[in-house]
Amino acid sequence: MATPAGYTRTQIRLHWIIVGLVALQYVFKDAISQAWADWLNGAEIAFNPMIAQHVFLGALVALLTIWRLALRFSHGAPAPAGTESAPGKAKVALATQWAFYALMLLMPISGSVAWFGGAEGAATAHNILKFVLLALIALHVVGALVQQFVQKTNVMARMKHPVA
Ligand code: HEM
Repeated sequence: MATPAGYTRTQIRLHWIIVGLVALQYVFKDAISQAWADWLNGAEIAFNPMIAQHVFLGALVALLTIWRLALRFSHGAPAPAGTESAPGKAKVALATQWAFYALMLLMPISGSVAWFGGAEGAATAHNILKFVLLALIALHVVGALVQQFVQKTNVMARMKHPVA
């Protein structure tokens, strides 16, 4: 497959929609955390729309990630920006992107196994992965800002302007 010059409109939209959904998962997590703690203490869990929100938006992240992966395999993705003469840097950038896909699937999977299967180990995994995902997001954002404002590669334009 030839390497495309940029991302498509759908790839760009999916990127930003997933950013928003993941942010909401971190902001509105108290209800499910509390319900999980209550359940561990033997209490009944009453219906709460904020719990449903965490479950549904998390599932949506998984579905949209599968769509993103399908597009990546069918259409491809441009080479990592600013790495043309630095193959080591390109490898790190690609590894980060694949780690994102893995985490955006592993978070909903571990959360579902915990919530629907009552598995404490899966909840522990969910809690550990949430830090790994946060660290990756921090790396990703810092990398993008350094490229944009220090190396001046105009990398942000790639996630704004589609090629097709
Ligand atoms: C991208 C998707 C997801 C993200 C980013 C995410 C993120 C989070 C975060 C930040 C917490 C708070 C943990 C804490 O108390 O500090 C949490 C808790 C929890 N989430 Fe998710 N979540 C996702 C998907 C899901 C899904 C799909 C489910 C269930 C179907 C789920 C079930 C849970 C449960 C049961 C807890 C409580 C675990 C505990 O407190 O030990 N999550 N999640």
